[in-house]
Amino acid sequence: MKEEKEGKIWAIGGGKGGTGKTFLTSSMGIYLAKAGKRVMLIDVDIGGANLHSFLGMSRPKKSLTNFFEMGIPLSRLAVKTDIDNMSLITGDVHSLASDSIKFTQKLKLFRHIVRLKKQYVIIDLGGGSHNNTIDTFLMADKKVAVLEPEIISIENMYHFVKNALFRKIRMSLKAYGFKEIVEHMWEQREKYKIKSLKELIESLKESFSYLEDILDRELSNFKIYLVLNKIRNTQDILIGSSMKSIFKKYLGINAQFIGYIEYDDAVWRSIRERRPLMQNNSLSRVAKEIGVFTENLLHEREMKISRS
Ligand SMILES: Nc1ncnc2c1ncn2[C@@H]1O[C@H](COP(=O)(O)OP(=O)(O)O)[C@@H](O)[C@H]1O
Ligand SMILES: [Mg+2]
Repeated sequence: MKEEKEGKIWAIGGGKGGTGKTFLTSSMGIYLAKAGKRVMLIDVDIGGANLHSFLGMSRPKKSLTNFFEMGIPLSRLAVKTDIDNMSLITGDVHSLASDSIKFTQKLKLFRHIVRLKKQYVIIDLGGGSHNNTIDTFLMADKKVAVLEPEIISIENMYHFVKNALFRKIRMSLKAYGFKEIVEHMWEQREKYKIKSLKELIESLKESFSYLEDILDRELSNFKIYLVLNKIRNTQDILIGSSMKSIFKKYLGINAQFIGYIEYDDAVWRSIRERRPLMQNNSLSRVAKEIGVFTENLLHEREMKISRS
């Protein structure tokens, strides 16, 4: 029972490229594997699969293309990494976000990912807000959004999460014949004097009271975990708590701020040298910060902010 609650499929997203999604995916994977857990990393980045480099490996020959084009089961595409207990499935140019991937193929991929659930599965989503990327984010048990303390990254991450929530609500109301109404109200939101997704949801609840339970359930189930990367001072950390309030106010969802990683030249240097920081520098501050938010994510805990 506890096993089920644990939620072993994690997706690392957040809209903008360059925020550190791939670094986080590789580092969290190494952290879990070193703690003795079985881990599978899946790279579904849009045409830019590079997770293998972050693990110091050359590009694996087998990739998700073999799954989509030849129907080779996902479990057979996994390659061993240098880290005990950890395997990798890589993406490539024919990636998830490419329009050539049909809806049925996407569902098949999700079914196969769910079957890997005996181990921890960490999915590196890549940038952008393509529907395929959002759907992969939505299928994960734990949805992690990474951002940097700078305005474009904050905005992109907010829009990514907002689009994901809208898509989720739309999908769940579709089953009740409300898809067109939701889309219409959102497109005509000025006419309806709706200023945010939260107001749209409230207005739907007022107009159709029997949707109240469904929408409340969707909102409380929609949990987002925030990680701030490349912080340069303690002031930057406050952005995590601000984002949490913004999500509550404008989307009506509970985001949990689980931790941060400071900016450190050792990070990009370790990637360039193909010597994963979590493996070779596990006592560094960055490695400890990664350990902290990975534990928080495992236990669904918020970051403790010390006011020193
Ligand atoms: N905490 C950090 N400190 C310094 N550089 C970082 C940090 N996190 C990531 N980087 C650098 O930022 C770049 C983008 O990281 P990456 O993980 O590829 O982002 P994404 O996958 O979101 O596009 C990389 O060159 C990486 O070395
Ligand atoms: Mg990346």
